[in-house]
Amino acid sequence: MQRILVTGGAGFIGSNFVHHAVSHTDARLTVLDKMTYAASRDALAGLPEDRVTVVVGDVADAATVDPLVAAHDTVVHYAAESHNDNSLSDPSPFIRTNLVGTFTLLEAVRRTGCRLHHVSTDEVYGDLELDDPERFTEETAYRPSSPYSASKAGSDHLVRAWVRSFGVRATISNCSNNYGPWQHIEKFIPRQITNVLAGGRPKLYGAGANVRDWIHTEDHSSAVLRILEAGRIGETYLIGADGERSNLEVVRLILRVLGRAEDDFEHVTDRPGHDLRYAIDSTKLRKELGWEPMFDDFEAGMARTVEWYRDHETWWRPAKEAVESAYAAKGQ
Ligand code: NAD
Ligand code: DAU
Repeated sequence: MQRILVTGGAGFIGSNFVHHAVSHTDARLTVLDKMTYAASRDALAGLPEDRVTVVVGDVADAATVDPLVAAHDTVVHYAAESHNDNSLSDPSPFIRTNLVGTFTLLEAVRRTGCRLHHVSTDEVYGDLELDDPERFTEETAYRPSSPYSASKAGSDHLVRAWVRSFGVRATISNCSNNYGPWQHIEKFIPRQITNVLAGGRPKLYGAGANVRDWIHTEDHSSAVLRILEAGRIGETYLIGADGERSNLEVVRLILRVLGRAEDDFEHVTDRPGHDLRYAIDSTKLRKELGWEPMFDDFEAGMARTVEWYRDHETWWRPAKEAVESAYAAKGQ
């Protein structure tokens, strides 16, 4: 693992992984990113120039992807359209990037023998009842709900088919909801933090009973690196840190951290088809690869995240009005 190509490396989780890999390996990294609205050059600032190169390009464009893959021994595939709400407004970029992009990468990897790690989501498994004692495992059947999760489910199936039919050397991980620095303010936690910092109120879809299984993005990065180092080819690993919280609990925590009354939020129109609960059983990753999350205190992690958004207002402020207008137009 000397030369790693990181697709989507200017996005939230990809950029955090690039910083993590620079600190924890000797590898040289190339970021391939289309620099969509979700990307941030600032998130890659301060990295050593002799270790990290940024290429602006589309993962669904074979003319860009083929020579890049040929020049690397490992690919970590983060590039995606990632926001469920956007996929309900316009699914088309989700199909192109998440499906055609993954296909394009797989074909390049098939030709070169490069090792691929495909980064996916727990949403491929659909949702659980609030009182279901079961959690998602590597054996859970696929049952995606939204255009986003269906496109990610399709990309997982493509990777498995290329492993079985063509002997591509790939692994897959399905992770739960990430939080931490550089997350776009369209997403739940940064939206609510920046709403309060901007003088407004958090906006809760429906009653706020929906549960997400939160993991700090740094723990996601350490898990992906561990899978790259020791994961078995063809295997899938679920990544989670036992962080189940209802959206209502998260909003109340954010308000508490920011010194506001815990009921100072608004209920807004619910997301169509809104998945009720996600929960990850990451026993396989922990037992087989010895991985453990480091950020096990969600309250402390949230306090640091709130501080990060307070300190980076110049980064998120220019996008805030447009993000909120788009939500307001949908009653959210
Ligand atoms: P993000 O939207 O913040 O970043 C995605 C990045 O991909 C952006 O930099 C964007 O410019 C880039 N990109 C989009 N289309 C591209 C294309 N056609 N070619 C090249 N680059 C392109 O997303 P994120 O939250 O960082 O998620 C990264 C990956 O992790 C995704 O594959 C997502 O499905 C997966 N994932 C996310 C979470 C989460 O909680 N956010 C959890 C589990 C898995
Ligand atoms: O589970 C992993 C997935 O987590 C990733 O695959 C996705 O890329 C990532 O976006 C995330 O999907 P969610 O739909 O769970 O995340 P989001 O931040 O959009 O919403 C989290 C929860 O908060 C969800 O139940 C919807 C709710 N919500 C969201 C927003 C933006 C609100 O109540 N209010 C809001 O304003």
